[in-house]
Amino acid sequence: MAKVKTSYVCQNCGVESAKWVGRCPSCGEWNTYVEERVSQGKQRHGLVEVSRSATPKALKEIESSNERRLSTGIEELNRILGGGLVAGSLVLLGGEPGIGKSTLALQMALKLNHLKVLYVSGEESARQVKLRADRLTNGESECLILNETLLDNILTQAKNTEPDLLVIDSIQTLYTDTIDSSPGSVSQVRECAVALLRYAKTTGIPIILIGHITKDGSIAGPKVLEHIVDVVLQFEGDSNYLYRILRSIKNRFGSTAELGIFEMQSAGLMEVPNPSEILLSHRDEALSGVAISASMDGSRPFLIETQALVSTAAYGTPQRSSTGYDTRRLNMILAVLEKRAGFKLATKDVFLNLAGGLKVTDPAMDMAVVAAVLSSNFDLTIPTSICFAAEVGLSGEIRQVSRVDQRVAEAAKLGFEKIFISKYSLKDEGKFVKNIELVRVSKIEELVRALFK
Ligand code: TYD
Ligand code: MG
Repeated sequence: MAKVKTSYVCQNCGVESAKWVGRCPSCGEWNTYVEERVSQGKQRHGLVEVSRSATPKALKEIESSNERRLSTGIEELNRILGGGLVAGSLVLLGGEPGIGKSTLALQMALKLNHLKVLYVSGEESARQVKLRADRLTNGESECLILNETLLDNILTQAKNTEPDLLVIDSIQTLYTDTIDSSPGSVSQVRECAVALLRYAKTTGIPIILIGHITKDGSIAGPKVLEHIVDVVLQFEGDSNYLYRILRSIKNRFGSTAELGIFEMQSAGLMEVPNPSEILLSHRDEALSGVAISASMDGSRPFLIETQALVSTAAYGTPQRSSTGYDTRRLNMILAVLEKRAGFKLATKDVFLNLAGGLKVTDPAMDMAVVAAVLSSNFDLTIPTSICFAAEVGLSGEIRQVSRVDQRVAEAAKLGFEKIFISKYSLKDEGKFVKNIELVRVSKIEELVRALFK
């Protein structure tokens, strides 16, 4: 019998130790060490199979072939992946329970009816998958469903069926016999992921791994998983809203700046190709406390509504609360406003909200936040035909942001008549866009004068 070795493994970062420790020396988390049994029957394998006779080659001698990309049938997903799934790549799709990971993966499998897709479900029975598929499409599909959690069986079935795409739902349910610890533990997850990686690299079949996310937002089981895979996609969204955002956190074959927006409907996830339309409320009448920002996420511009409510503080300490926008940044902006625009910080409660439950980190939101706060404070409306795109600095200066051209073009496309940008944006930026007036401001005072004179 193979000798059984036990070791303690940090469930957060995957570091091993011979004895139990209270605080992981690697990631600093407390109480994350769990004893796992690793039988030594088989040896560990490296990530990429290396042949014994490999010799170094000059870079220029290595053939650069254009990677073959497989379209997923879902445009938003293709864009985030950088044009489709690369042959032999391992993609991790992470997200909280119930966010729609299985739905997205199955929807993709159903769209790829011309290809052979093997959908391995360790969480739901084949019946449940069928029910979900019926909900998503009415058509029949050739997609192969496999209910299995033992990795070796999955690989055997994959070898037999030779699919064009393999989907694993989810990596936390898989286990392999070589390791004694329970499914979902760090060593199991890592071992299974490495075996799947080896399979993907040798056969050229792309694999999508679905992974759960722990409460604090990291992919459960481990950082190690993020190192192993080629692409990490994260599915986010507020369960109170219908919108779901798919972000790329790591991509060896494309940019990580892209973001896709989906809407969860009764027949599955629908792509939202033009997010501005859902993020604006298309009101005819202007309301105080509302300002629209021409924001960017990745390479795509979108206009988003910022709403602020400023009221007299009822208690000693004024409240600050913001949804979708960094609260610290809001505090900074309020401090700037106190200094520059006579805003009495200590006596006002300020609430800020971005439409649609989105979180935006683009600094170009700043000017819209300033405008919304002032509009609510003075109870004066901002015309619905105006939008904003600039950063606000600590001394109240309006700073330039990137890609002004695209923001202006998007605003013009949606029928805005005026856009406020920084005076320091390049001279001809946005100049050639028709039907929209550019207002260049350099200081908060100027903005206030232009808006509420
Ligand atoms: P699911 O894909 O099972 O989430 P995950 O795999 O990430 O845990 O998504 C389940 C949720 O989506 C569930 O709350 C029901 C909802 N849903 C719809 O609204 N419409 C649909 O067509 C489907 C299939 C699910
Ligand atoms: Mg699921």
